[in-house]
Amino acid sequence: MKPISDQIKEKPWKGWVLFITTIVIVFFIGLLASSIIERRTEAVFAYTPKVDHTQWEPRNKVWGENFPRQYNRLLKTEDQSFMSKYNGSSQRDMLEEDPRLVILWAGYGFSKEYNQGKGHEHAIDDIRKILRTGAPVDGNSSPMPNTCWTCKSPDVPRRMQEIGVAEFYKGSWEEEGHQIVNNIGCADCHDAESMNLRISRPALVEAYQKMGKDIDDVSHQDMRQLVCAQCHVEYYFGEGKYLIFPWEKGTSVEAMEAYYDELEFKDWIHPISKAPMLKAQHPDFELFQTGIHAQRGLACADCNMPYMSEGGQKFTDHKIQSPLNNISNTCQVCHREETQVLLSNVYERQDKIKETRDNLEDLIVRAHIEAGKAWELGANEQQMKEILMDIRHAQWRWDYVAASHGGSFHSPIESSRILGTGLEAAHDARIKLARLLASFGYNQEVPYPDIDTKEKAQKYIGLDAEKMKNSKQRFLDEVVPEWDKKAVEREATYKTSDI
Ligand code: HEC
Ligand code: HEC
Ligand code: HEC
Repeated sequence: MKPISDQIKEKPWKGWVLFITTIVIVFFIGLLASSIIERRTEAVFAYTPKVDHTQWEPRNKVWGENFPRQYNRLLKTEDQSFMSKYNGSSQRDMLEEDPRLVILWAGYGFSKEYNQGKGHEHAIDDIRKILRTGAPVDGNSSPMPNTCWTCKSPDVPRRMQEIGVAEFYKGSWEEEGHQIVNNIGCADCHDAESMNLRISRPALVEAYQKMGKDIDDVSHQDMRQLVCAQCHVEYYFGEGKYLIFPWEKGTSVEAMEAYYDELEFKDWIHPISKAPMLKAQHPDFELFQTGIHAQRGLACADCNMPYMSEGGQKFTDHKIQSPLNNISNTCQVCHREETQVLLSNVYERQDKIKETRDNLEDLIVRAHIEAGKAWELGANEQQMKEILMDIRHAQWRWDYVAASHGGSFHSPIESSRILGTGLEAAHDARIKLARLLASFGYNQEVPYPDIDTKEKAQKYIGLDAEKMKNSKQRFLDEVVPEWDKKAVEREATYKTSDI
């Protein structure tokens, strides 16, 4: 080939083509460079604090002035539009959907009202409205302790700093009502100086200490799940309603059960069977640890808080939600399958586990009612002791799976195994009950009550739902506005300064 200069001499248009192409390329490179510089400046700008606030500032809005992207997404947890096959972010009355739950929790707050969990922006509103917290009006107190606020708000660590941890837990739920008004937020998970993840709840730190581990030694990836484990775990109220995670013997369902048994701890006595019951809370973190995703090093934030980008900025999506509402940014970062395939993988696991769970649930309802019959026929404590322990264990295992959010997908094999051991305990109880009933000459099936709606089931256990709702409405109309007014006055005295 001839040198380029000779070619141009022969055909001058070639020179022009070269000239114009070069200009176009340089122009685009320039554009790219300017865009990169602009984004860099934007990044620096976005991460330069605009306001200075205290370490325990409870108002997300104030933190949000420095980090608007995270704040704006956090507000989106208010969204209630997503419904998956079994869960989602919308209001769902679980007692209405499955009235047998009313019998399982008879004598305990959960038989009054139990709903599907919603996004973090609903935490305060929901705990005020739920019938379980009662209606503290006219000097009456709530059936719940202050400890119930612990997983609802960044006002909690603030109050713990102010009055002390044990002092905070003590006392009745309504006492802190005017103090705890901000929904779950920045101060729950972040250090205000460095914005690093931090543990704000003492119960998790203490649980680590009891297991002989130091929570300050964990990796960054561990922190991406431990911030969630401050709240999404199994727990109970000890002496002085002190919040404790029962992990001293380990975090498996058996280890926690053994811990509770040794302590002879019970959440309540079942009014029909008289069994000393345990209420599993929401062992989300514990069950997740036993699944393949945790074993491959994933943390909660990987799927529930994936990265997103806006204007070329990559940041963590603070709209914490089910990844099923966001499969392209979560599952598909690692899996190549179509959305529909991944969804059906999840539903298939949930369907199968729900099938076994439903069977177990039915057996436990029957066991409670049969035990009630045995008492009625004159059974004594000695004869009932083992049976009641079987019922306790069966229901604990059923609840452990039922109450764990996402558990059937987080850890399908362990969930199935737990239900399997629950079935065994329920069968043990019912075989012993059949023998005991026979010894009283009772040889037929104990009649199953008509509990096919929530109303019928609540009536069966003697709950007056209308009365509870009416007094709750009075509490919401009269007491709650006072709480909010006091909170506004208090927060007006907080110091923040522009930088
Ligand atoms: C439930 C816990 C939780 C809450 C509440 C929370 N964050 Fe985060 N935040 C995280 C996690 C997890 C990450 C990822 C951190 C990492 O991987 O290092 C993160 C990351 C960040 C980052 C680093 C940049 C990024 O996006 O990855 C900033 C800044 C931030 N959050 C600000 C906020 C602000 C402001 C609020 C309140 C409006 C808030 N966060 C509330 C858990 C939380
Ligand atoms: C301070 C306690 C607390 C912390 C920390 C916390 N949560 Fe929650 N979370 C809650 C409560 C309470 C609810 C239920 C709120 C309601 O129903 O009103 C909830 C609800 C949820 C839901 C259901 C929302 C939906 O749309 O389905 C998901 C998912 C969730 N949390 C994930 C997480 C993840 C992931 C983390 C850690 C990054 C985390 N949470 C940290 C207390 C907490
Ligand atoms: C950060 C990467 C990552 C993300 C995000 C992720 N996975 Fe996985 N997933 C894995 C790995 C790794 C395995 C284990 C496979 C192996 O090692 O062979 C796995 C295993 C699985 C399995 C088979 C395990 C079983 O239960 O039998 C399914 C199904 C699955 N993932 C579905 C999903 C879905 C649905 C999502 C979104 C909600 C998701 N994954 C998100 C990495 C990921």
